[in-house]
Amino acid sequence: MTLDARALRDAFGAFLTGVTVVTTHDAGGAPIGFTANSFTSVSLDPPLLLVCLAKSSRNYAVLTEARGFGVNILAEGQKDVSNTFARPVEDRFAAVEWRKGPYGSPVFADVAAWFDCAMHELVDAGDHVILIGRVEGFENGGKTGLGYARGGYFTPTLAEKSLLASADGTLLLGAVAERSGEILMVEDGKDGWTLPFVEKAEGEGLDALERHVSDVFGVGLQPGLLYSVYEDTKTGRQHVVYRAALGDGAPRRGRFFPVQSPPLGAIADSAVRDIVKRYAAESMLGNFGVYFGNQEKGRVHAVAAKG
Ligand SMILES: Cc1cc2nc3c(=O)[nH]c(=O)nc-3n(C[C@H](O)[C@H](O)[C@H](O)COP(=O)(O)O)c2cc1C
Repeated sequence: MTLDARALRDAFGAFLTGVTVVTTHDAGGAPIGFTANSFTSVSLDPPLLLVCLAKSSRNYAVLTEARGFGVNILAEGQKDVSNTFARPVEDRFAAVEWRKGPYGSPVFADVAAWFDCAMHELVDAGDHVILIGRVEGFENGGKTGLGYARGGYFTPTLAEKSLLASADGTLLLGAVAERSGEILMVEDGKDGWTLPFVEKAEGEGLDALERHVSDVFGVGLQPGLLYSVYEDTKTGRQHVVYRAALGDGAPRRGRFFPVQSPPLGAIADSAVRDIVKRYAAESMLGNFGVYFGNQEKGRVHAVAAKG
């Protein structure tokens, strides 16, 4: 059977991916890199990942002879970086802030995550070669990754940001803000706890939540994906809650509770209690849903499934 290559490529493109920039140095020490969405995590023990490199790439010889390579998972604000490293630009590295990773390949600032790898194996595969890397160092910046599907980019939280900015009426923005297996909770009356919430003014977006956490708690907040949208039918107020990563430093207010043992008996707001309970259960599976409904009944939509 002969397949239509263009049609096949379009069908492959139905698979939603992130976007990475794969890097190394040439023999003269100059950094090289190209955009790749063929990244796949492979193994935890030993720690392996892979990317597929076209044999037509100008960097084919350098990459296949390199002692290692870096994989930079682009954050959703880095569309320009993706385009630069996919086009014949003279100095692609002028578009990013970068440094040498622990194993020597270029790693970028402000990415969702990076991995610096030793070359583990090269597998010949048709018009591509599969580069299998052994992870020697990595950093997970906590930012949401840039998405790619059917030839176009998508930005999961930036899209929501603009939706939020144009939302009618008042909204309460909240966060399940996690750091090292603990979530930040804030005093809610005497002996009670709730999640950090802030009222969003008209025209404001998700930045209102970042600013609130930074002003009130004195720590940085990196909002991630949407976690719960509900209306409190008693107060008529809409709530939009995000999963978020919390920056370093001791918060000026509130307290950390282990994700798996939140103070359920001391959470008066039943919606918050349900969110915290669901978060504990879903973190065990690494499989988070998004809840839509009111504070009593609604639906959880699965957004991610692992294994
Ligand atoms: C979103 C996106 C994903 C890409 N993924 C890959 C890939 O996985 N492997 C690959 O060899 N090229 C991929 N490309 C194409 C290369 O980035 C592009 O051909 C680049 O110009 C190669 O540069 P080079 O010839 O300097 O190596 C991708 C391009 C884009 C825009």
